[in-house]
Amino acid sequence: MLDKCLEILDRSLDTPLFAIDCTLGLGGHSEAFLKKFPSLFLVGIDKDEEALEIAEKRLGKSGRIAFVHDSFANIASIASSFGKSPDFIFADLGLSSLQIDKAERGFSYMSSGQLDMRMDKSCDLSAKEIINFWSEGELERIFKSCQEPRARYLARLITEERKKGEISTTGELSEILDSHTPFKERMQTKKRVFQAVRMEVNGEKSDLEKLLGSSLQISHPGSLIMIESYHSGEDKIVKSFFSAGISPKVPPKFPLEPEPYFQDLTRGALKAGEEETEKNSRSHSVRLRAVKVLGASERVKNQSL
Ligand SMILES: C[S@@+](CC[C@H](N)C(=O)[O-])C[C@H]1O[C@@H](n2cnc3c(N)ncnc32)[C@H](O)[C@@H]1O
Repeated sequence: MLDKCLEILDRSLDTPLFAIDCTLGLGGHSEAFLKKFPSLFLVGIDKDEEALEIAEKRLGKSGRIAFVHDSFANIASIASSFGKSPDFIFADLGLSSLQIDKAERGFSYMSSGQLDMRMDKSCDLSAKEIINFWSEGELERIFKSCQEPRARYLARLITEERKKGEISTTGELSEILDSHTPFKERMQTKKRVFQAVRMEVNGEKSDLEKLLGSSLQISHPGSLIMIESYHSGEDKIVKSFFSAGISPKVPPKFPLEPEPYFQDLTRGALKAGEEETEKNSRSHSVRLRAVKVLGASERVKNQSL
């Protein structure tokens, strides 16, 4: 999707000078942004200090990027500390390959490590705490939020199993789930359960909601907001936030015409092409949405590309 992001920026912005990459990760997107726009200064945010260290080694020498260890939920205060409004805001949600591939980070059901799943290791809440101490009802709620059809059954299963002793590794949790799931459904079940726990550990939905609300506040007419999401729950949040600005709704017979404050740059969501999904299976689920913040004079009803 990197090419698509660059293409959108290229056709929608003149010369961006200041931008925020909310999910710096290993710095792949930021590197491409800096290369594409030679006058750009970028702030790269990440919750994960390991990722920041790697990105800093890769991009620090340029002197055109600042590295911030924080949640993108705090984008408003981060932007204000630089005293500038961003020309574009970018977020590539979810996990980096570094987090998925390192068993000891405890994100993956493919290899066993401590049940951790914290993007920010300085936070207290880990997957181990959720799996071993949250109530059956709370587990059911979070599994349901990831569309797990057997949410209640799995929540009961986990609370029964943990009576036998602490569930402390991703391998143990996987085994418990596998042993009570038909073979064909095992991968999807683990995917949904692990995702539900991870999203809770990292407060992913609420961070995203804060990011979106603050992005509009700190933008200026002409700013771009571009989000890549990998989960239908996240994409729904982005879609509904963008739609409210692309086609604002007012109650029937309301005397005022609603004015759009976003221009849709992707005509809904863009998906990865066949070539990309063949190379990278994770890109199957990616949805890219981008909008431009409209100024008062451009707020023409139903404006779109
Ligand atoms: C998919 S990776 C980004 C990859 C990056 N675009 C690249 O090209 O290398 C997502 C990154 O966002 C970070 N992240 C996720 N949620 C975050 C949040 N609320 N605040 C800050 N960083 C977050 C993760 O730690 C991870 O490093």
